[in-house]
Amino acid sequence: MSVSTELSKNGTSPEKLLAPVLSAFWDEPESWTLETYRRHGGYEGLRKALAMTPDEVIAYVKDSGLRGRGGAGFPTGMKWQFIPQGDGKPHYLVVNADESEPGTCKDIPLLFANPHSLIEGMIIACYAIRSQHAFIYLRGEVVPVLRRLHEAVREAYEAGYLGKADHRDRSGLGSGLDLDITVHAGAGAYICGEETALLDSLEGRRGQPRLRPPFPAVEGLYACPTVVNNVESIASVPAIMNRGKDWFKSMGTEKSPGFTLYSLSGHVAGPGQYEAPLGITLRQLLDMSGGMRPGHRLKFWTPGGSSTPMFTDEHLDVPLDYEGVGAAGSMLGTKALQCFDETTCVVRAVTRWTEFYAHESCGKCTPCREGTYWLVQLLRDIEAGKGVMSDLDKLNDIADNINGKSFCALGDGAASPIFSSLKYFREEYEQHITGKGCPFDPRKSTLWADTEVNA
Ligand SMILES: Cc1cc2nc3c(=O)[nH]c(=O)nc-3n(C[C@H](O)[C@H](O)[C@H](O)COP(=O)(O)O)c2cc1C
Ligand code: SF4
Repeated sequence: MSVSTELSKNGTSPEKLLAPVLSAFWDEPESWTLETYRRHGGYEGLRKALAMTPDEVIAYVKDSGLRGRGGAGFPTGMKWQFIPQGDGKPHYLVVNADESEPGTCKDIPLLFANPHSLIEGMIIACYAIRSQHAFIYLRGEVVPVLRRLHEAVREAYEAGYLGKADHRDRSGLGSGLDLDITVHAGAGAYICGEETALLDSLEGRRGQPRLRPPFPAVEGLYACPTVVNNVESIASVPAIMNRGKDWFKSMGTEKSPGFTLYSLSGHVAGPGQYEAPLGITLRQLLDMSGGMRPGHRLKFWTPGGSSTPMFTDEHLDVPLDYEGVGAAGSMLGTKALQCFDETTCVVRAVTRWTEFYAHESCGKCTPCREGTYWLVQLLRDIEAGKGVMSDLDKLNDIADNINGKSFCALGDGAASPIFSSLKYFREEYEQHITGKGCPFDPRKSTLWADTEVNA
C-alpha cells in the first residue's frame, strides 16, 4: 500500500505518517561520518547512477518527479536537462545552502547530521550534467556545520569518491569522472540565497540579483552553464537512485511526489524536523507531535517561511504539497511551519518580519528598497498605537507596489505577510488604532496574567 493511501485513512501514528529517509539515522551516534552513511546504504545510489549514461540519469530524476526543495518546486531533472551538452565550456553545480528565510531550518540540520547524502547527490548530479567542479554556498554564521562539511568532503576525497579519476578507483566505482567540491562560507546576507545573487557573491562580488535572461543554465557561474539546487533537492537524489523512482512516486501526491522535511516551530509542544510524504496536513503533524503548547490554540501559521502568505486554523487540513497550498492561497515554500498561538500579536509578528525584509533588501530596485522602508515605518506606528485607519489602505497599496514589480522575489516575499495578515486579521490592526496600542501588550493584556512582567 502506498504511503499516500495510508495518509487518507487519517491515522496519526508516526509510523504511518512519517517517511524518514534523509533523517532516518540522525539520532545515531556519529550519524555524520562516512562509515555510518555507508552502513545505511550510502553511495549505493551513486553506484547505480554510474551504471547509466549521464542522459539516462537526468531522465530518471525527471521521471521520479522530484521538485526543488528551495521554495519554488521547479522539477529538478528538467533543470539539469537545460544544461547544454557538447558546448566545450565547463559546467558547474552550485548547492544553495544559504538558508536564511525566517522559520526555515531544514538544510542546516540535514547538513549537520547527514552531510554525505548531499555529497553523494552532488556527485550524481555532476556526473549527469558533466561537471567537474561543484560548490556548496553555505550560510557563513553556522560554523559547526561548516566544519562538519569540510570534514565530510575530506572523507569523500580520502575514500576516492572525489578527486581525480584515478583516485576514484579506490572507491571501487571507476567512473572516470574528475570532480572537486569547494565549500564556500557566505557572509550572512539573505539575498545571497537568491540564486543569481549567490553566483555574484561566489564570484567575489557584492551579492545582488542578476538580470535574466541569460539564465544560470546558459550563463551562470563564471558565465558558464550552471545548475543551482537546494541542499535538500540534491540530498534526495541518492535515495531515488538507490531505491527507485517508483518507490519515490509511491509517496506523496501525483504532482508532488516523494518525501520531504517539514520544520515545525513556534508555540508547539514538539518542534523539530518531521520527514513525511508530501501532502500531509498540519493537523496530522500537530496530532502526532503533541499539538500546540498546553492550554493554547493555533492562531496563525506559515506553510513555508515568512515569505509565504500566512494561514489560520481554518487551514489545518490543507494538504501540504505544492498544489494544495497553492489552491488555498499560499505557497509551500520551504515547508517551514511556524505556528503562533493566541498570545501572539499578528501586527507585532508582521512588523518583525517586515523589519527583516527591509534590512535584507539589497537596494537594487526602488519598489523593494523604498517600499519595505515605508512598510516598517507604518507598522511601527500602528504597533505603538500611533496609527490611523487610512494607514491600513496605505500598507496594502505599498505592498501592492512591491509585489510583482520588484527585481527579485524578495520583494514579493515582503508583501506576502502584509496582504495575508490584513486579509485574516484586519480587525486586530484596527484594535491597535482604536485602542491606541497593542491589545497584547503584557501590561494591558489578561493573556499574560500568569507571566511576570517588568513594566
Ligand atoms: C531572497 C531569496 C532567498 C532565497 N534563499 C534561498 C536559500 O537560502 N536556499 C535555497 O535553496 N533557495 C533559496 N532561494 C531560491 C533560489 O533562488 C533558487 O530558486 C533555489 O536555490 C533553487 O533550488 P531548487 O530548484 O533545488 O529548489 C531564495 C530566493 C530568494 C528570492
Ligand atoms: S527586490 Fe529587493 S532584494 Fe530583490 S533586487 Fe530589488 S531591492 Fe534587491
